[in-house]
Amino acid sequence: MAGFIGAEHQFHDPEFVRDWALRFAPTPPRLELFGLILAKLAEPGLPVPHIVELGIGPGYMARHILERTEAFSYEGVDFSDAMFGIARKTIGDLMGRVTLTSADLLDPGWTERLSTQPGAIISTWALHDLGSEQAIANVYAACHGALPDGGVLINGDFIKPDGTAFEYEPGRISVGRHLELLKAAGFEHPECLALLETNIEEPTPANNYACLFATR
Ligand SMILES: C[S@@+](CC[C@H](N)C(=O)[O-])C[C@H]1O[C@@H](n2cnc3c(N)ncnc32)[C@H](O)[C@@H]1O
Repeated sequence: MAGFIGAEHQFHDPEFVRDWALRFAPTPPRLELFGLILAKLAEPGLPVPHIVELGIGPGYMARHILERTEAFSYEGVDFSDAMFGIARKTIGDLMGRVTLTSADLLDPGWTERLSTQPGAIISTWALHDLGSEQAIANVYAACHGALPDGGVLINGDFIKPDGTAFEYEPGRISVGRHLELLKAAGFEHPECLALLETNIEEPTPANNYACLFATR
């Protein structure tokens, strides 16, 4: 085996979160992922103009979307109060359109905490942190249950690239497995919209992510 790809986080430690958020500031390829997600959200037909982000973190994607369109209300789910503090600062003057909802995505009842039914559920670089394929499958099933017909799920997350010789942490799974889990959750035609920062030979924990899209 060539090596291990994974990362440890202390998302409840304010000092760790502050430093981590500074290092995680979006790079051009990461902004490309935000652009892809925004373009999908802007397509006509979203049944409800309310977006839920799973793992809002420092609020980088939230700010990116909110400052480019006034079409949606926005709800950020996270289990870290320290992250909510940073997200409030990032989102700043646009916080009036945002609800922050404290929930653990490993808790089977997390969708009951949502303020209103979403037309889209989105996420970037968060679900791999749930630590297992089963936890991702459970979240996909919960999203299917929470969305109305025509609602969309868009997950941009770190993956295990095909053809790798490296061992990846259990939450980083292949695109093929993501698509199978989305189908098993009830989504009809899941697809991978893009592979970003692909690096097979010399991967780091910060590259190899995909944009997965599914409609209910
Ligand atoms: C990489 S950050 C998300 C970055 C965000 N998409 C952005 O654009 O700024 C991942 C977030 O997922 C959250 N998270 C990880 N595990 C979680 C869980 N079990 N329940 C809820 N939130 C979780 C972390 O607290 C962290 O804020």
